[in-house]
Amino acid sequence: MRIKMRKHLMKVEGLILLSVGVLGIFFILLGYENGPQLEKKHLKIIDFPTYSIPNLPHLSSIQGISKCQVNTSVESMIGFSSLPEHIKDFLRYRHCKAFPQILNSPMKCGGPAESHKVFLLLAVKSSPGNYERRAILRQTWGIEQTYSGAHVKIIFLSGTASNNKADKRMKKLLEIESQTYRDILQWDFKDTFFNLTLKQFLFHHWLEENCPGAQFIFNGDDDVFVNTFNAITYLRGFGQNGPDSHLFVGQLIANVGPIRESNSKYYVPEQVTTSNSYPMYCGGGGILMSRFTARAIYNQSIHIELFPIDDVYLGICLKRAGLVPASHMGMRTVGVRVPSDKLDAFDPCYYRELLMVHRFVPYEMLIMWKAIQDPHLNCGQRRGIYMVK
Ligand SMILES: *[C@@H]1O[C@H](CO)[C@@H](O)[C@H](O)[C@H]1NC(C)=O
Ligand SMILES: *[C@@H]1O[C@H](CO)[C@@H](O)[C@H](O)[C@H]1NC(C)=O
Ligand SMILES: *[C@@H]1O[C@H](CO)[C@@H](O)[C@H](O)[C@H]1NC(C)=O
Repeated sequence: MRIKMRKHLMKVEGLILLSVGVLGIFFILLGYENGPQLEKKHLKIIDFPTYSIPNLPHLSSIQGISKCQVNTSVESMIGFSSLPEHIKDFLRYRHCKAFPQILNSPMKCGGPAESHKVFLLLAVKSSPGNYERRAILRQTWGIEQTYSGAHVKIIFLSGTASNNKADKRMKKLLEIESQTYRDILQWDFKDTFFNLTLKQFLFHHWLEENCPGAQFIFNGDDDVFVNTFNAITYLRGFGQNGPDSHLFVGQLIANVGPIRESNSKYYVPEQVTTSNSYPMYCGGGGILMSRFTARAIYNQSIHIELFPIDDVYLGICLKRAGLVPASHMGMRTVGVRVPSDKLDAFDPCYYRELLMVHRFVPYEMLIMWKAIQDPHLNCGQRRGIYMVK
């Protein structure tokens, strides 16, 4: 009898627990749907109330681009069958440069004619699942505001989730973010490492169509920390003609070539390129360029076939345009090395002097963004970080 009673109670308890669980999930889902909306109050007012997701018929008008078919003849290349899957895929789709745009923000820069009023456009490569990174960037170095006259805008560049199961949810997420913040560009291609060049190419195309006048462009990853104040000061230093002169700076990489070890993330086999050297390029974690150089890259990229590594591809485009990339000591794509291990690598004093650093997790972005603006931050003498290599 007692046992029966316990059993019965346990059944009831189970039922209660189950309903609590279901309710909980329900609320979590509700909260998830409303999450980005709730943050709206933190949003700087966006001046462009009209917004629609247009079709982009013009994409088909890019020279040499037609609806994309798998190139099956790559499979007859010598050694093809033993290549890693992602490289096989790259070769099969290498010629595909046009993909439908799922989400757009055509008025990001106020329209092409007004876009020259944007001083710095932050174009951040972000995979669909990186919601937290986008959320923190919008509150820190990517905040859309005016720095004594210099308008800053941010746009995130995304493909579709590479995992089919997550894809539907991620599409919904980006759609919500796009409706709330109008800062998402999403194209219908798989957001993978070897498709980053595609993302770069499609961004340049978008820029040309929607925001050709933006004076300078920061192009980088969503895990870098940018000292927006310093970047603006630096760019202002080029004066009136700065936007229309060549500028392409970052962490310069020279005298390297394709890695031929098949287990490396950067493995590029002979089937992709037989050349054993890369032109000079800047690490893709973060690059600053002028609108002149962005256009020159776009002009070339229309005719240059895709290369799996996006920053190398930019180097190839620059070379074809007869331009060279440059280095800036304040842009560290491989992180900061401090002179002594007695000092804290996270010391805001270092970041006060830098333009950009790889790689931060979201909470660090927030702390650092506040710290570099702290008027009471006491940095004493300069720490000579630029000399550390
Ligand atoms: C398909 O691949 C072959 C072999 O690499 C290449 O010669 C050809 O140009 C490719 N076709 C297209 C449309 O890119
Ligand atoms: C790039 O995206 C296309 C379109 O989604 C996909 O078919 C292809 O497999 C992707 N390529 C790589 C190398 O991931
Ligand atoms: C890009 O191409 C257009 C049209 O061919 C040309 O007018 C323009 O000068 C080029 N710009 C650069 C920066 O190369």
